[in-house]
Amino acid sequence: MKAVVLISGRGSNMESLLKAGLPVEFACVISNRPDAKGLEIAAGLCVPTAVVDHKRYHGREAFDAALAAEIDRHAPDLVILAGFMRVLTEGFVRRYEGRLINIHPALLPAFPGLHTHARALAAGVRVHGCTVHFVTPEVDVGPIIVQAAVPVLPDDDEASLSARVLEQEHRIFPMAVAWFAEGRLRVRADATVLVDGASGAMAALISPPPDEA
Ligand code: GRF
Repeated sequence: MKAVVLISGRGSNMESLLKAGLPVEFACVISNRPDAKGLEIAAGLCVPTAVVDHKRYHGREAFDAALAAEIDRHAPDLVILAGFMRVLTEGFVRRYEGRLINIHPALLPAFPGLHTHARALAAGVRVHGCTVHFVTPEVDVGPIIVQAAVPVLPDDDEASLSARVLEQEHRIFPMAVAWFAEGRLRVRADATVLVDGASGAMAALISPPPDEA
């Protein structure tokens, strides 16, 4: 299976995918920002890189067309948005629908969009987390593949909470890509996802925990 990874910055999720030993050929890492740190990381891991700089295009349609042209050169089975910070046009999303996935730093459908950790803290939620989902034209609402939940602790600030969530992002993103590669993901008619062979229930995360815990 061949995948292309799209990034905009740091690239820690991309790095977790490249290092996970997945049964996937990472054909290219593409950034919309020439200075994205993740490009160096990918090159260091001998994965080809490319830049499609959004600033060089007038409007989303033109940028998305250039991005699609670069992606299609690699004929990927899967296109992975790993911290890719551009809203994509409906035409682009439809072109890759069913083989386009994203990681979002919140438990969707809670906190779509930006600044998820600050908004979670402001809302006083006790549990926060991250989501890997298929991408559909509306931002952050596509079929959910896997989520990880973490507690929000009394002394948390944005930095501590985002670090706790990021650790889980690096666990669930490779899981989701492995399932895709193994052909184990099925999107049902109601837009929920079935993961073939995944069953085991886990203990509940209660935050704050019961007194005896
Ligand atoms: C991650 O928190 C991801 O969920 C969000 O943007 C951040 C990117 O971080 N979409 P990195 O570039 O993967 O380190």
